Amino acid sequence: MHSGSLESVASVVREAKEIVVFSGAGLSADSGIPTFRDGATGLWNKVDPDEVASIEGFLRNPERVWNWLLQLKKLVDERQPNAGHQALARLQEICRAKQLTVITQNIDGYHSPAGNAPVLEVHGTIHRLRCQQRCGFSADWEQSAAEPFRCPRCGAPVRPDLVLFGEMLDEEVFAAAETCSMTADLFFCVGTSFTVQPAALLPVWAKRAGATVVEVNPHPTSLSALADYSIRSGASEFFTALSAKLAARQA
Ligand code: APR
Repeated sequence: MHSGSLESVASVVREAKEIVVFSGAGLSADSGIPTFRDGATGLWNKVDPDEVASIEGFLRNPERVWNWLLQLKKLVDERQPNAGHQALARLQEICRAKQLTVITQNIDGYHSPAGNAPVLEVHGTIHRLRCQQRCGFSADWEQSAAEPFRCPRCGAPVRPDLVLFGEMLDEEVFAAAETCSMTADLFFCVGTSFTVQPAALLPVWAKRAGATVVEVNPHPTSLSALADYSIRSGASEFFTALSAKLAARQA
């Protein structure tokens, strides 16, 4: 990592009043959760998302989608937030006089236990189940719920409370994400390939509204040309260094 860019980004953080951290699967890579699209290890290079993670796939074969997501949930339960999540929580603590909102595409739920709040989970969470018909039933996904089951209230299928391919995002959560993207003066993009809409529009809207956009990703992406800073580094490494630099100045 270039020390000049670290110092420049630290100065932008010091000046900022409203910060957004927009995270994707690359942030959880250091926890041992594979990303979706990275080379041979990417989940979507091993399984067909239409079969295991789409609403059509679920309606066709609920067991298949359920079993695949249950395996993913088990992996998430076995692993934990990594140094990148912890450094982002430290950043929030250092920036307590500012507004810092995490918008995540990740369904692993790692930001909150690390210490960030608020966290807007625009693609939902793998830890909760809900009624497919949205009758109001929801429940924690216990390990014992190994098989798909019917909603105890209305009899519709119960499914993980995450956004499957072919579905709309939760309107309220996405509206909140849109609002804070438009008012942010600093917008970090961490570990995402910007492949999935509409979430990938958030940094574009933030940039148009005047935010400084900082991308943290070891590889170039379609957003790199728009970013004010492209930090070619892993998330853990960069945010650990950034929070240490900011904390040192405060001490
Ligand atoms: N630190 C930062 N970035 C990393 C790291 C790391 N240690 N390791 C990998 N990356 C980057 C990769 O270079 C890649 O650009 O993370 C990105 C991961 O991209 P994707 O696998 O496409 O994940 P994401 O962008 O979160 O996917 C978006 O797609 O399938 C859906 O719903 C799923 O929310 C997900 C959405």
